[in-house]
Amino acid sequence: MTVTEPAPTRVCVPPLAARARSVGGSPVRDILAVTARPEVINFAGGLPAPELFDAEGIADAYRAVLAELPARALQYSTTEGEPVLREALAARTSVRGLPTDADDVLVTTGSQQALSLLATALLEPGDTVLVEAPCYLAALQAFGFAGARVLGVPGDGDGIDPQALEEMVVRERPKLLYTVPTFQNPTGRTLPAGRRAAVADVAARRGLWIVEDDPYGELRFEGERVPWIASYPGAADRTVLLGSFSKVMAPGLRLGWLRAPAELRRACAVAKQAADLHTPTVNQLAAARYLADRDLDAHVARVAGVYRERRDAMLAGLGEALPEGSVWGRPQGGMFLWARLPEPYDTTALLPRVVRQNVAYVPGAPFYAGEPDPSTLRLCFVTQTPDEIAEGLRRLGEGLRG
Ligand SMILES: Cc1ncc(COP(=O)(O)O)c(C=O)c1O
Repeated sequence: MTVTEPAPTRVCVPPLAARARSVGGSPVRDILAVTARPEVINFAGGLPAPELFDAEGIADAYRAVLAELPARALQYSTTEGEPVLREALAARTSVRGLPTDADDVLVTTGSQQALSLLATALLEPGDTVLVEAPCYLAALQAFGFAGARVLGVPGDGDGIDPQALEEMVVRERPKLLYTVPTFQNPTGRTLPAGRRAAVADVAARRGLWIVEDDPYGELRFEGERVPWIASYPGAADRTVLLGSFSKVMAPGLRLGWLRAPAELRRACAVAKQAADLHTPTVNQLAAARYLADRDLDAHVARVAGVYRERRDAMLAGLGEALPEGSVWGRPQGGMFLWARLPEPYDTTALLPRVVRQNVAYVPGAPFYAGEPDPSTLRLCFVTQTPDEIAEGLRRLGEGLRG
């Protein structure tokens, strides 16, 4: 006798988590996808200039660690990071005015991972996070994935307004403030020393974590270095400083770090264990070797010199390219410049027309946690030569004039 089994009915697989479902495709991303074409002059990216990577120096460092320490370089490592790299990072931080021990540092897989780890370690769904308006896009994503309520703090050309910050802290009871105080992405602006002291003071009096993200600070073209918020009175026990080699060495290394008070750093280390166990050993050892054998500061000074010429090329051509009544910043370093066109220009609506001229920018709207300013846009000035920048701006002018 044969037993016939009932035909299996098809049952749907369970749905994605709500946080994954909420991350949809963006129309801007679709338009910007075409900017990968070689004929497009792309001011939309955020890529360091690849011809300036010290490929030879980095290759030497890898060769040395693989020849001399292969068993170590290719082995699992500790979650906190390779001691030799943590020592070097602590020394670089201390020399820049913030006394730091190797034990204060957790090496991360890019500073982007530090943001995810902090979100995991600090945020419950529904917790409030304050950010700059506008804010680095992938930080908005990291806090959004954690289910946070993300609110923008009003500011001006100098960055967040400490008075407005204090009012929001009192009203909204946030857990943390995320800020990029130096050569911010996307605006290029830098928070002056007086405001840094005031932000540290608000955090100290009102009870608030500060996440101070500084991937661009070393790329200074002019002006005096401004101390980290972490170094102001009251901020020491509540500020997490994030650093990265992405913009000063190479982003493909995926090397970042965070400097945080002990309890929070330990929580981030546990979160990192669950995320990736540790940052690739060979990359950490090669970076430490590079720092020992080469002069990273001299390399960064060379890169900053080239970026300065590119910023100047962009500043020189913007007046012609943008419609009358536009305003824009003059960043003293970093990679980005922010512009506002007069009303009723809408940079998202204008983008397809501009891209048809084979040039691209990023509209400002996605950088806002709350109500966007539709007339803003971000331009990256470091990836093209001055001649290409001049040509790109000519095309931008054509596109905007229609
Ligand atoms: C403000 C800011 N933070 C963090 C990152 C992430 O950098 P990393 O390559 O170190 O992950 C970026 C990258 O563009 C950035 O602009």
